Amino acid sequence: MEASMNNGISLSNTMLMAILASVTAALPAFAETFPLPRSTAVFGQDPVEFVAPTDILHIGSLPEYREPAWVTERYVKTGLLPPVSERLPKEPLIYNSRNMYDGIGVYGGTLRHVTGGRPQGWNKPAGQHLGFGGTEMNFWECLTATGPLYQVKGENLEPLPNLARSWQWSDDGHELTMQLIEGIKWSDGDPFDSEDVLFLWEDHILDPNIASEISGTTDPKTFGIDTKLEATGAYEIKWTFRETRPTRVLFAMAYPTFCPGPSHVMKSKHPRYNKDMTYESYQGAFPVDMMNFPVLGSHVAVDYTPDEFLIARRNPYYWKVDETGQQLPYMDEVHYRFSTWTDRTERAVNGTADWSNLENLPLFAEAIEQSTRPDSPARINFGPRTIGYFIGFNYAGNDWGHPDRRARAIRKLNRILEFRLAVTHAIDRERLNKAISFANLAAIYPGGIYVDSIFGDADSTVYYPYSPELAKENFAKAGLFDTDGDGYLNYPAEFDIPGNVEINVTCNTPRAMEPVLAGLVIGMLDEVGLKLHDACVDGPAGELEFAGKFEWSIYRGERDFITFIQDTRRLAPIGPRTHLWHQAGSDGTLDLLPFENDLVSIIRQFYEIDTFAEATRLASLYQKIFTENVYQVGLTVYPGGLIVNKRLRNIQPGTPVYAFQWAEKAALRERLFVPAEQQVKEYERFPGMLPGSIGMSAGRK
Ligand code: GLA
Ligand code: CA
Repeated sequence: MEASMNNGISLSNTMLMAILASVTAALPAFAETFPLPRSTAVFGQDPVEFVAPTDILHIGSLPEYREPAWVTERYVKTGLLPPVSERLPKEPLIYNSRNMYDGIGVYGGTLRHVTGGRPQGWNKPAGQHLGFGGTEMNFWECLTATGPLYQVKGENLEPLPNLARSWQWSDDGHELTMQLIEGIKWSDGDPFDSEDVLFLWEDHILDPNIASEISGTTDPKTFGIDTKLEATGAYEIKWTFRETRPTRVLFAMAYPTFCPGPSHVMKSKHPRYNKDMTYESYQGAFPVDMMNFPVLGSHVAVDYTPDEFLIARRNPYYWKVDETGQQLPYMDEVHYRFSTWTDRTERAVNGTADWSNLENLPLFAEAIEQSTRPDSPARINFGPRTIGYFIGFNYAGNDWGHPDRRARAIRKLNRILEFRLAVTHAIDRERLNKAISFANLAAIYPGGIYVDSIFGDADSTVYYPYSPELAKENFAKAGLFDTDGDGYLNYPAEFDIPGNVEINVTCNTPRAMEPVLAGLVIGMLDEVGLKLHDACVDGPAGELEFAGKFEWSIYRGERDFITFIQDTRRLAPIGPRTHLWHQAGSDGTLDLLPFENDLVSIIRQFYEIDTFAEATRLASLYQKIFTENVYQVGLTVYPGGLIVNKRLRNIQPGTPVYAFQWAEKAALRERLFVPAEQQVKEYERFPGMLPGSIGMSAGRK
């Protein structure tokens, strides 16, 4: 039984408003909700100083440019490289000193990262990643930038220039012309221009063989229906939209959704340009060990040892400078140690690495205790509560992921509102938070958009509190009874499946929070007679999830629940293969529930609006429908802590672990520096060396 709601898929604004009323009216009377308890402020949170986007950076020229002395000596004077002024654009991107907390930096030093992920390869345009933990963000640059927007007030919210320096809307709002920074070069010296941008758009985002089905990141719908992009010059591109002034596309042009690859290297391997290649062979054509793969980011990969290290050196063609004309980055070398997420935190705390996003609660107590000691090598700052976890139900009533009879039955249960109400009522979130957290860091999280985020709205968040009685009542309404008296609920009679309902809960073991939460969920559901099994895997649970091979899964929320405006496509099943927990079956069609159709309509509307007020209204409506229908069962939400080594300078106070971007992007690592006397020579593996040519390893140069 479902709450009956408007089933249309192209709703007008007025109809949308009507949904709100009808949702509430149609909810069964037994659904008891309470106002969301207010959570206390997070301790150890430095205030953010709010600025205008133009306070952070500008594009312009400076009378002279500089670089590390060793680069001039070894590379420019010997004729290996042109002078720095010729390697930079005429008008580079300039970070304003007044937005740099410790001011102008000095060159040198090594930034030591640790990641729990493992890299797939360099073909990001075709969906590959480099192992998370800040790796991709290091190498890939995108048309616009949103990382620093945590410093910008809502009403000024617009992405910052990056590869695109400026943009103008046509009077009718259907065209957007963008100028690229002229003279940016790839790290091998090849010019970056509109050909690279069009290569990403035409041969990846629009290419049906590559689109979101594979990558999950480049969905053409993100940029609107029937959107066109053309090159109107080497450094100018023009977008044409069906919608009027869809300003949110500017957010979608930031990391990770619009970051071009080097067409001068990649085109010759793309099946459209090379008939000896297939889409499969294209995706794998740029393996991780292909060193010196041309990038636009601050550092270039020069050395790789599987399961151990990826090492990157400064990009001699990087196109960002400080106000004194020093070419960035300040730091010469970046390390990515391939280890575990837990090791990332332990190492940052003990000083054998420089950075951790403290995000796994079991590690908090010790990490906080150690990094607040006066002699600690690291310091810690907390952000808003934007790290959230939830139980995700598989909603596909079709054959997505090839379910067997039992798995199909579980999905059928997942689609019953009363079943989901029972599950959410069975979760004692206060007990759960006490078990995993301390000092009231974790707050009650019913699901959906985080209350502490830009579009957060406690009043539109429907909370079904802990009540074993209501859980049991709702299981009964969904047809679940313990018919054989062994203490566990059996399948509804009409399912014609013998025995108890038994559900597999998938999670990703290396993400320390997930197995902990899976265990707590299994215990709490056991108390109301629902039998769950721990199906956590030691590998990428995400791949199982994206293939539809799960019944319930523990998820960590991402950017969509923080910003709404980024990764919006994740918020509802807007396409057959775009969504995390509901995709089409082999016939290509989705079987959306009525309330899912409403969510899809909201997201489609969102794609057409252009004011912050309207965005706020739609986000609240989304939140109401999401939580009222228990689209997913929220478990907990808490703040991340950013742990950085004390020798790093220019970390802005209040840099959040996760807002518009993860901290590795938001902190603008290209501007970080280490005072000369604190630079540790021993950390540096390739002193005095710049990246070589593609395929060559620096170590063997
Ligand atoms: C993973 C980590 C995050 C962050 C991101 C960056 O998701 O868990 O803390 O480092 O990678 O992509
Ligand atoms: Ca039973």
